[in-house]
Amino acid sequence: MKILFIGDIVAKLGRETVAKILPDLIIKNNIDLVIANAENSAHGKGTTPDVIKELQGYGVNFFTGGNHIFWQKSLLDQMDDLPLVRPANYINSPGKGYDTIDLGGKGKVLVINLVGIAFMQANVSLNPFIFVDNILSSINPEHYKAIILDFHAEASSEKVLMGHYVDGKVLAVLGTHWHVPTADNRILEGGTAYVSDVGMVGAENESLGVSKAIAFERVKSPVPQKSEWVEEGKAVFNAVLIETENVGMKAKSITRLDYWDIL
Ligand SMILES: [Fe+2]
Repeated sequence: MKILFIGDIVAKLGRETVAKILPDLIIKNNIDLVIANAENSAHGKGTTPDVIKELQGYGVNFFTGGNHIFWQKSLLDQMDDLPLVRPANYINSPGKGYDTIDLGGKGKVLVINLVGIAFMQANVSLNPFIFVDNILSSINPEHYKAIILDFHAEASSEKVLMGHYVDGKVLAVLGTHWHVPTADNRILEGGTAYVSDVGMVGAENESLGVSKAIAFERVKSPVPQKSEWVEEGKAVFNAVLIETENVGMKAKSITRLDYWDIL
């Protein structure tokens, strides 16, 4: 089985870039399942049912979230009905933290979303290490061809540690949130595919998708600046392709698929 995971899709330019790149990529690589982080896909913060539908039209099958997932009010009462997970270790929040994708004859895939607690808003989330134990002990891994964990976290130490913590128990631990792709994609000792951060899809020459002119003002002045997402110019598309061994939670490969200077 081949699973493509796309990094944080940022705003309209990110969605347009997915439309340009993804359909061909699916055909060229015989991809069975496409998962994308959608926490910044609507206006740069959160997502909406309409945006999810739009991205499904380009070939994304399932979506993960992060610390920005609840920003769009239109999402909140429809979360249970969408192919979307939000961080499972968020307390008192709508939606699902993990969910099963049924691929028919190809089997079932479990997708888990967790947030880190280091340098994140830790007062609203539970310990992700204890939480992932709880989730994995509540399911039968033999029911799944793959278990994918999107670990949306700030600290590299916490991300790397999570990879080793669940090594052999899940097929892949894929870091998101930085919007910066990392070159440490590899198979860990127990067979789990790992990357500290998948990256993003959106404006390439700005500040993580946000207007760099505004970001410059922010670092020079205490006067608050409203974020603006850049909707034109060159774009980047960052993703990883994971191929399974079809034996337990062992990955055969994790390959970066990065496209730059997309116009
Ligand atoms: Fe985030």
